[in-house]
Amino acid sequence: MLASTRSTAARSAASLLRPASRYISTTQQPRMAEVASSTATSEQPTREQEPRFKTFSIYRWNPDQPSEKPKMQEYKVDLNNCGPMILDALIKIKNEQDPTLTFRRSCREGICGSCAMNIEGGNTLACLSRINVDTAKETKIYPLPHTYVVKDIVPDLTQFYKQYKSIQPYLQRDSHPEGQENLQTIEERKKLDGLYECILCACCSTSCPSYWWNSDEYLGPAVLMQAYRWMADSRDQAGPQRKAMMQNSMSLYRCHTIMNCARTCPKGLNPGKAIQEIKKSLAFD
Ligand code: SF4
Ligand code: SF4
Ligand code: FES
Repeated sequence: MLASTRSTAARSAASLLRPASRYISTTQQPRMAEVASSTATSEQPTREQEPRFKTFSIYRWNPDQPSEKPKMQEYKVDLNNCGPMILDALIKIKNEQDPTLTFRRSCREGICGSCAMNIEGGNTLACLSRINVDTAKETKIYPLPHTYVVKDIVPDLTQFYKQYKSIQPYLQRDSHPEGQENLQTIEERKKLDGLYECILCACCSTSCPSYWWNSDEYLGPAVLMQAYRWMADSRDQAGPQRKAMMQNSMSLYRCHTIMNCARTCPKGLNPGKAIQEIKKSLAFD
């Protein structure tokens, strides 16, 4: 009696643990593809998605054909088969329609700063800009304004990098603590927040009217913010020399607080404020 109760309990427990497929003989089991296709045909007839063609009008210029003037070229992209960002559309156009289209990009996540361009009238990063899905409106893409052009939407940033190098963007000290790091307090470190995050994309400098007209001498918002980043660093000992570099009418004082720089920064930084801090420190420290 006891043995028979045990075996009945064991059988019912085993039946509870059986997979559902155990109840269909292997010869009867439909394969998943068959299930999917029978569901599609009998229950939900598939409808072809209407294509959603969006026009991108892109600045083109080829240095190998110097006699040809720059022009805008139109490309149509079906948004149903494209990622959501402007950079996705550019990569799709280059891969599928026109391999000669030239642009810079690397990280595709707003870190390297290389995909900076002028999209629908504003300087920003193509990888962080969503495509405007209104297909009635075309999206215009230009290189960063007031820059020389290397090709298509690739700006020449030679002057920008030269100016960045001129502010000596690295830690300078007369002496280093023996056998230990250059430490900071939490408060000292906090002073670098909002400064160190800059990715040097040049969106701000190329949106600054003062920089457009004086970029040979005026350092522009991006470079000035980096100059301040080192002036604000408690570990740096080159403050007096850094300030002396700004004591002329052009390097710093061409900033007229128009604030285009803060409006356009794709990282949400405020170079105009950093410039004000440099001006204050030159006036009062
Ligand atoms: S605040 Fe200064 S740096 Fe920024 S856009 Fe205006 S003039 Fe240029
Ligand atoms: S401050 Fe902003 S816009 Fe200017 S270079 Fe840095 S990340 Fe780019
Ligand atoms: S691809 Fe690096 S910031 Fe856009």
